[in-house]
Amino acid sequence: MSDKTQSIHGAWSSRFAFILAATGSAVGLGNIWKFPYITGQNGGGAFVMVYLFCVAAIGVPIMIAEIMLGRRGRQNPINTMQSLAVEAGADPRWQYMGWLGMVGGFLILGYYSVIAGWSMAYIVKSFTGQFFSSDAGDIKALFDDLMASPIQQIFWHTVFMLATMQVVMRGVQGGLEKSVRFLMPALFFLLLILVAYAMSSGGYEQGIEFLFNPDFSKIDADAVLTAMGHAFFTLSLGMGAIMVYGSYLPGHVSIAKTTFYIAGADTIVALLAGIAIFPLVFANHLEAAAGPGLIFQTLPLAFGHMGGGWLFGLLFFVLLFFAALTSSISIIEPAVAWLVENKDLQRREACLWAGGACWALGVAVVFSFNIWSEHKWFDKNLFELLDYLTANLMLPLGGLAIAVFAGWKMKPAHAEQELELPPQGFQAWQFLIRYVAPTSVFLVFLHVLGVL
Ligand code: PHE
Repeated sequence: MSDKTQSIHGAWSSRFAFILAATGSAVGLGNIWKFPYITGQNGGGAFVMVYLFCVAAIGVPIMIAEIMLGRRGRQNPINTMQSLAVEAGADPRWQYMGWLGMVGGFLILGYYSVIAGWSMAYIVKSFTGQFFSSDAGDIKALFDDLMASPIQQIFWHTVFMLATMQVVMRGVQGGLEKSVRFLMPALFFLLLILVAYAMSSGGYEQGIEFLFNPDFSKIDADAVLTAMGHAFFTLSLGMGAIMVYGSYLPGHVSIAKTTFYIAGADTIVALLAGIAIFPLVFANHLEAAAGPGLIFQTLPLAFGHMGGGWLFGLLFFVLLFFAALTSSISIIEPAVAWLVENKDLQRREACLWAGGACWALGVAVVFSFNIWSEHKWFDKNLFELLDYLTANLMLPLGGLAIAVFAGWKMKPAHAEQELELPPQGFQAWQFLIRYVAPTSVFLVFLHVLGVL
């Protein structure tokens, strides 16, 4: 355990505060927006099984490792890896792992903020009753209108980036911690209401069957890569977000136990989102593979037809906005911590620089949905390219590096000291982090490259 030092940015006030903040980081658009649509695109049940396997066998051990490295290093991911490499007598170039993460965070936030902006636009649509008594065609037209309008999207993207910068400027306890205390439980409660509605929608059995009945003939190497990449994305792993949160963790807290809570909550929210959405898809004869618009084309149907739907819709999109916000602050925090520690900037200035860069990228992402939609690289528009690069490649690569460093480079005695696990627990973790996690990531990469 390492209570000898503290990060210069302060610390979480308690274990509970850390769990909330890390859960806030993990639970976000990934669970409610992305998980359902990629499940829809990849055929359902079998994809969900691969994803759950990746969370348990790769995600959980890597999350333990990433929090541990952060807490031991007590600095931003780049400096943390630099000093841990020195401590372990390893190559100082391990710090590039931190750089990879920082660039990854920039690329992720560039599109994350745009999608979060959509959820804000939908707050207004709910409030003004635009879903009332609509059919699937009307709801799709609403979404298509938003996609076609750069102005609207840039407006909401800007509001969201400003909100993110506001929170991060206030620092660890005053900003990050405060914002998650009430939001997470409220989001959970609202999802349960939507699940209850979905149960009565007429498509319930079909929805459940789609989600949980695996048909492995429906998935290929790319689907497996997407499932694995999503395990990293949804748990916020592989880019230093959880590492930097770990650096604010008090020394006496059990890392393994907190990881189980975080990963458990994250998985439950994703599955609930799926259970809320797919029955609506089937009851309304919609396309499960509709892509990034899926939740925006399904849930409003429910809101438009339930009593008080405008209010539930409003609450839902407000909470989705908050879920996105508690994630986006963790995506930008490594860069802010780095700018403060290494470039001698005030937190405020650091937020402006990091936020400004992500904002500019976001504007280009907005255009990729309309005026630049024809510009493609490897058959992907800018949004799809950023998503693929980060979730499917950079995060698993970062995770692989974390696993190799924690499992093979760091002195086992140091890892044992940090984790304070009973001997069998430590051995189990060591086995997963040394063998299972790195080989799984590696095999999936080979598979995608067609080598295997
Ligand atoms: N886990 C977040 C989500 O599911 C996204 C995220 C990715 C956050 C990477 C931090 C780092 O929405």
